[in-house]
Amino acid sequence: MSSPVTKTSSSDQFESFVVTAPAKLILFGEHSVVYGKTAIAASIGLRIKLELRPNVEEDRICIDFSDIGVQKSWTCKEVRHGVFLYKPQSDSAEDGQAFQKAILKFLQSEGNTSDKLQLRSLVCFFYLLGTISENAIPLKAKVESKIPIGAGLGSSAALSVCLATGLLRIAGKCEPDKKEVCRLAHLSERILHGPLASGLDNNVSTFGGVIAFCSGTLTSRGPLPKLKLLLVNSHVERTTKSLLEFVRSQRRDSPTVVDAIMAAMDAVSKSCLVILEEMRQSGISNNHHRQLGNLIDYNQSLLESLKVSHPSLQEIIEIARQHGLHGKLTGAGGGGFAVILVPPDVDGETVAEVRKRLDAANFSSWEIELDPEGVLVNKEETV
Ligand code: PMV
Repeated sequence: MSSPVTKTSSSDQFESFVVTAPAKLILFGEHSVVYGKTAIAASIGLRIKLELRPNVEEDRICIDFSDIGVQKSWTCKEVRHGVFLYKPQSDSAEDGQAFQKAILKFLQSEGNTSDKLQLRSLVCFFYLLGTISENAIPLKAKVESKIPIGAGLGSSAALSVCLATGLLRIAGKCEPDKKEVCRLAHLSERILHGPLASGLDNNVSTFGGVIAFCSGTLTSRGPLPKLKLLLVNSHVERTTKSLLEFVRSQRRDSPTVVDAIMAAMDAVSKSCLVILEEMRQSGISNNHHRQLGNLIDYNQSLLESLKVSHPSLQEIIEIARQHGLHGKLTGAGGGGFAVILVPPDVDGETVAEVRKRLDAANFSSWEIELDPEGVLVNKEETV
C-alpha cells in the first residue's frame, strides 16, 4: 500500500480534449491466438469516444457513460482513499488483482452498482486512473460508443485504449506513446477478460489497420485491402472470459487434438497473410475472394470443432451460404457477431436479399468498411 496522496493543485488543470478508438474485427485466428498462433484482425469504422474535461466547478470526478446507464461522481478525496491508496507497486498479476479488489470494494461500498457491465467499465476507469495518474484530479469523463458492447467487437479494449490515451495525456501533458497506451490497455483487458486475454483487441484499437498478431506481439501491419463485409449481430449474449475458459478446459482434456486444431487455424491465418500480400501487390481479384471464402469456411469449421459456435451463428452462416457467400463467427463466439465476406462481383440486390432474410430471422446487419485509423486525439468529427 502506498502513502496517501496529496490534494489537487492548480497545475493539475488541463485543456479539454476528445479521444476516439476503433472497434476491431477478427478475420481469422480467434482462440488459437491465445495459444501463440497467428490471428488477423482489422479496425472497423465503429468508434468509441471519450471526452475529458477539467471539473472547474467542484472537486469531483464525474463519469457519464449513459450508453450503459452510468452517470456517477465521487469527490477526489473519496477516490484518493478508495483507489489511490491501493495503487499497484508493479505490473505483476498479484498487484493488479489486489488493486482490482480494492477498486471493487470501493465501488460496492458506495452501493454504486451491481450491474456487471457498469461495474466492469468503472473498474476499468479507476484501474487505469490509479495506474497512470499520481493523484485524483477533478475531471469529467464522458463516453459515447458506436460499438455494440460486449459482443466481440472489442468495445472494452477500445474503451481502455481511449482511457489510457486520455489519462496519459493529462498526466504527461503531451501526446502519449502508442506502445505505452497499448501496454496499459492490455493490463486493463486482463482485468476484464482474465489472464488469457491475448492483447489482440488493444493492439488493433491502438494502431489500427489490418494486423497480424502472434504470441502477444503485433507481427505485421499493412494498408487496408478494400474488403466489403457484412457484420451480423446474433443478439446472443456471451462472455469472452467463459469461452476462453471453456476452450482451455478442452485443451486440458485433449491436448493433442486441440493443439492440432489450433495448428490448422494458424495455417488458415498464414494463408490469409499470403493472399493479403498478393492483393496489395497485384490488386484485388475474384480469385482472391474465392480463396478468402474457402479460408473463412475452414476457420468456421475449426471453431465449430472447438464448440464455440452457436445455433444462431450457424443460422446466419447458412443464410449467407444459400446466397453463395461465406461467413464465420468473429470474436470469442458463443453468440455475438458473425462476419460475411461480400466479393466485388456480388450485386447489391443479393446483399439486400441476404440482409432482408437476416432481418426476418431477427438478426441485425451492417455493411461495413475497414478503418485505417487507430486511436485518435481531438477528432470529434470521426464519431
Ligand atoms: O472478446 P472477443 O469476443 O472479441 O474475443 C476475443 C478473441 C479471443 O481470441 C477469443 C480472445 C483473445 O484474447 O484473443
